[in-house]
Amino acid sequence: MRVTTTINGKVRELEFPPSATLFEVLRRNGYKSVKQGCDREGTCGACTVLLDGVSILSCITPAARAAGRQITTVEGLGDPSHPHFIQTAFVEAGAVQCGYCTPGMILATKALLDRNSKPTEADVVQALSGNLCRCTGYVKILDAVRNAAAVMRREQKP
Ligand code: FES
Ligand code: FES
Repeated sequence: MRVTTTINGKVRELEFPPSATLFEVLRRNGYKSVKQGCDREGTCGACTVLLDGVSILSCITPAARAAGRQITTVEGLGDPSHPHFIQTAFVEAGAVQCGYCTPGMILATKALLDRNSKPTEADVVQALSGNLCRCTGYVKILDAVRNAAAVMRREQKP
């Protein structure tokens, strides 16, 4: 099947078999930040992307759902020369070790902060509960989200 979708702000025509997952299609089209950390069974969060701003697990999402919608991968947020403030917060807090979970963590954080710029600790834990990290012990990730939320609130002030 062939669908038109928007990935990181660019309109894309994608062709794939009807059974393809969004994870497979994104990887095949070069979005290598989208990772696989489990058996594509929805248990690790490494494949997280945003679909119309909502955090989803691309490994259990049919690619057909992307038709006519907006997909964001971490490539669409920023790059080393122009990082997004959430990326900066993760680096500054030391929340990145091997980095494998980081794209998913950053996208889950973006989805949270876009709907709630003043999240409680419980809100953050809940928002990131589907994203596993084998390295950091989560403390620095929670610090990074807290710091990113503070930056966002400062930027929102008139
Ligand atoms: S690859 Fe683990 S949740 Fe998708
Ligand atoms: S930084 Fe290694 S899995 Fe999270």
